[in-house]
Amino acid sequence: KRPQVGPTQCVGPDYRTESQKPVATVSTEIEYDNVITLPQTPQLIALLTMIRDRNTDRADFIFYSNRIIRLLVEEGLNHLPIVEQTVTTPVGRTYAGLQFQGKICGVSIMRAGESMEQGLRDCCRSVRIGKILIQRDEETSMPKLFYDKLPEDIADRWVLLLDPMFATGGSAIMAVDVLKSRGVPEERILFLNLIASPQGIKNFATQFPKLRVVTAFVDQGLDEKNYIIPGLGDFGDRYYTM
Ligand code: URA
Repeated sequence: KRPQVGPTQCVGPDYRTESQKPVATVSTEIEYDNVITLPQTPQLIALLTMIRDRNTDRADFIFYSNRIIRLLVEEGLNHLPIVEQTVTTPVGRTYAGLQFQGKICGVSIMRAGESMEQGLRDCCRSVRIGKILIQRDEETSMPKLFYDKLPEDIADRWVLLLDPMFATGGSAIMAVDVLKSRGVPEERILFLNLIASPQGIKNFATQFPKLRVVTAFVDQGLDEKNYIIPGLGDFGDRYYTM
């Protein structure tokens, strides 16, 4: 008997019949237009299976997380403005193509978001990257801004905001408020994350309807400690220390 742990679906390319495709848990469907979930391909599901497995060691966790991060960055880049650009090839023919327009930067929410910086650098050479540190205030248990270092011209850039786990959205909401206070309009922010919770997405979508979220997977929910379930545990611990 298959464990029923979320919405399951046959996963695989169209040339296979439904009975030839394996069944796997796929991302929970959500109704917000500004949330983009990566296509639930066998590759993505297999990568997520690796990083969700409690028995996966640190080296594999890093390797497979980095592969998903790369997919998220590539999808995020699809949302940047582009203009038509025709070039001449070495054989003298023209090719009607496209060119990115607009400056970008990354902003990682420390510490776990820093794991996504290299994936962005791998796609965008010499990209500027800023950082924001938000932690829970011991007294109020509310998220508090402890540190930020952002490009001085951030208001003129598109911002790829990086945090792998989108749980309640508390830190991300504060990070977006910081970006907006520096003049970045909501519609120029793309929030990239590996696993999101429906609660986090709802909190965000109601506060920032023009901001786009790019996620690999929307999970079932949160546990009593606000860990995403089924989730993968503490991303920062698994990426940096375990
Ligand atoms: N941060 C994590 O690392 N994991 C969660 O499940 C939620 C927030």
